[in-house]
Amino acid sequence: MSQPAAAPKTGAFKDKTKPEEVRKSNIIAAKAVADAVRTSLGPRSMDKMIQIGNGEVIITNDGATILKHMSVMHPAARMLVDLSAAQDVEAGDGTTSVVVIAGSLLVAAEKMLTMGIHPTVVAESFLAAAAKAVEVLTGMAIPVDLADRESLLKAASTSLNSKIVSQYSALLAPIAVDAVLRVIDPAAAKNVDLRDVRVVKKVGGTIDDTELIDGLVLTQNVIKSAGGPSRVEKAKIALVQFQLSPPKPDMENQIVVNDYRQMDKILKEERTYLLNMCKKIKKAGANVILIQKSILRDAVNDLSLHFLAKLKIMVIKDIERDEVEFVCKSTGCKPIADIDSFTEDKLGYADVVEEVQSHGSRYVRFTGAKASAKTVSVIVRGANGLVLEEAERSLHDALCVMRCLVKKRALIAGGGAPEMEVSHQLAKHANTLTGMRQYCFQAFAEALEVIPTTLAENAGLNPIAIVTELRNRHALGETTAGINVRKGAITSILEENVIQPLLVCTSAIELAAETTRMVLKIDDIVTAR
Ligand SMILES: Nc1ncnc2c1ncn2[C@@H]1O[C@H](COP(=O)(O)OP(=O)(O)OP(=O)(O)O)[C@@H](O)[C@H]1O
Ligand SMILES: [Mg+2]
Repeated sequence: MSQPAAAPKTGAFKDKTKPEEVRKSNIIAAKAVADAVRTSLGPRSMDKMIQIGNGEVIITNDGATILKHMSVMHPAARMLVDLSAAQDVEAGDGTTSVVVIAGSLLVAAEKMLTMGIHPTVVAESFLAAAAKAVEVLTGMAIPVDLADRESLLKAASTSLNSKIVSQYSALLAPIAVDAVLRVIDPAAAKNVDLRDVRVVKKVGGTIDDTELIDGLVLTQNVIKSAGGPSRVEKAKIALVQFQLSPPKPDMENQIVVNDYRQMDKILKEERTYLLNMCKKIKKAGANVILIQKSILRDAVNDLSLHFLAKLKIMVIKDIERDEVEFVCKSTGCKPIADIDSFTEDKLGYADVVEEVQSHGSRYVRFTGAKASAKTVSVIVRGANGLVLEEAERSLHDALCVMRCLVKKRALIAGGGAPEMEVSHQLAKHANTLTGMRQYCFQAFAEALEVIPTTLAENAGLNPIAIVTELRNRHALGETTAGINVRKGAITSILEENVIQPLLVCTSAIELAAETTRMVLKIDDIVTAR
């Protein structure tokens, strides 16, 4: 066996091979991540079953969720996970597309590197190409008005169509559209705070029973053990952060009482203490009281419940800490830290607070709340945890699509049409350039074809035939020609009502190019001590 060529002795030459190796290994690792989610792109795509360490199972189609749970070791591969998370924050949808595009750009970059083009030139050219791509996309976008409900519904349905719960898109899309339109002022809004839309999950029924509720919904139950009311009209709501039970000493200590009179006295003290509290609450006018969860003391005890029931005050305990803000926002109440500051001005108002029962579970509904900020709740129902979780994630995507449209009021065709059009325009633009840049632009343009190719592959079509025809149609000037997965042919995708926000497309291309640049500029991996 012949020995491999001896390593060159000059240090300079040796230094040159290492960055190449590092770059190559980074690209391979990142590409593996992109390949893993590739089959989850598009309306006919596959789903992933994820098993978490504690034995829990998730079934999902959402790129960001798949990657978040993947245990990725390689630092470069982790950059793609972060990329998907970044898209999730920026646009909310397109988290699979962004990773697939990044994977394809990396392969293209590798080709450029083997041609001998310097990584910095490739990185800079890709960024320039991405900027040009955004320009092209913006040029072909269709402006949309938030009053145009029809278009909004189509966009929301498109994002839901590629999910497991797609057969319910006719129900979930209007919920997403209405939820967002209710919490903003359509004329002036520049952004939506999705925290104003609270999505609560409750097992039972089917996704068909999902409903949008104006105001607040709590999944905690009303305490009725002492006979308190479970429906209150003209409710004055107090949110308290103290407990209606006897105080505990700060330190662990023991009191030994061996006298009956003393014992009586202790019981009497407790009674007056609690009674005073309840009377104060009544005096301030509150008739619904929400108690924040505490791990130190019981929220209520039998005695205080008895008093509250006598005073016709509804009690709900175990309000989570992170629910407090939403409760305050939607009912207009202010959290009350101790009984001495329990005053009327801190109370919120709702026309009716009632416990409703549907499909085997109970929840509390607050309707007709008077608060400065508008909030809505969506109660998602589903037969089991798996469906419920995925329904919530899909609804989140649809809400994000709406947020994108509020931020940037423009729509663009889907089904691989925008990517193909950008590819076509960039290839045309590349001919006007010279030198290495021309190669890079060409490679970038080709790399974007990965979206139509993957959509066709996942839909069981012949990718080569479909993409060739699509390329042809775009060359003939049909900017909206896309892959019609239902008919298995190329048609004008706007007629299929497949439209998506412009922001999803532009941010996917921008972020993917940015990540490619980052990967290319790494020439060494150093482990910290
Ligand atoms: N009915 C359809 N026909 C053709 N293409 C479609 C259709 N519906 C959606 N698409 C395309 O599917 C792609 C979106 O797929 P998908 O929703 O699975 O991934 P994503 O949006 O990138 O990621 P995620 O939704 O997981 O965050 C888009 O390119 C969109 O244009
Ligand atoms: Mg999507």
